[in-house]
Amino acid sequence: MTSIIIAVDGTAASGKGTLAKKLARHFNFAHLDSGSLYRLVALGVMEAHGDPAKEADALAVARAIDPARGDDPAIRTAEVGNVASIVSAIPSVRAALLQFQRAFAATPPNSLAGAVIDGRDIGTVVCPQATAKLFVDARPEIRAHRRWLELNQAGAAPAEAAILAEIVARDARDRSRAIAPLKPAPDARLLDTSDLDIDAAFAAALALVKPGVENALKARQGG
Ligand code: DC
Repeated sequence: MTSIIIAVDGTAASGKGTLAKKLARHFNFAHLDSGSLYRLVALGVMEAHGDPAKEADALAVARAIDPARGDDPAIRTAEVGNVASIVSAIPSVRAALLQFQRAFAATPPNSLAGAVIDGRDIGTVVCPQATAKLFVDARPEIRAHRRWLELNQAGAAPAEAAILAEIVARDARDRSRAIAPLKPAPDARLLDTSDLDIDAAFAAALALVKPGVENALKARQGG
């Protein structure tokens, strides 16, 4: 039976990961954070003292990552995020990670009926056939402030201006790369969370995807 797929793409620190997790919980679907795959490649290259812009260094790691390590806190640093953005511009690295993402979407773990996948190219490249597509964004200053609050609560005290610069640079690199650039799929629903708190953003996301997902669930039950 075909699985139901919700693609949640968006800019860095837009809240797409939180929304994707909440949507997965709501529908009892599996969740995949595709950024964690690129972050695992980045961490592997850094640990091996490789050059993230060099195809041979990044590809060797991409072929060997363990996607189950996606919850390793070591991949959550800003530095790993930046290096992830560099390795993700290499076409063979993207190709090496594509099969895992497509298999997850087609056959979600634990025989669940669907998958929510967040990233940059889920609705455009990985799963263009997705049941529902969201593109999440917020003004850069707002995203930087939210990330600053998070880091501050975790005991770190980075300068907000530095976070903003890093977010803007990462978006620019992700948008301008030749392969699978960050951009909304033509049929994605846009969600700007700048003026929404997390509950309001989730309510808005749910309202956008619900009709399509419920239709698909009904079709599965009927067929
Ligand atoms: O979502 P994130 O911040 O964890 O992603 C880290 C980097 O990985 C991001 O800057 C670009 C890359 N990425 C990608 O190219 N395609 C995806 N589907 C997900 C992430």
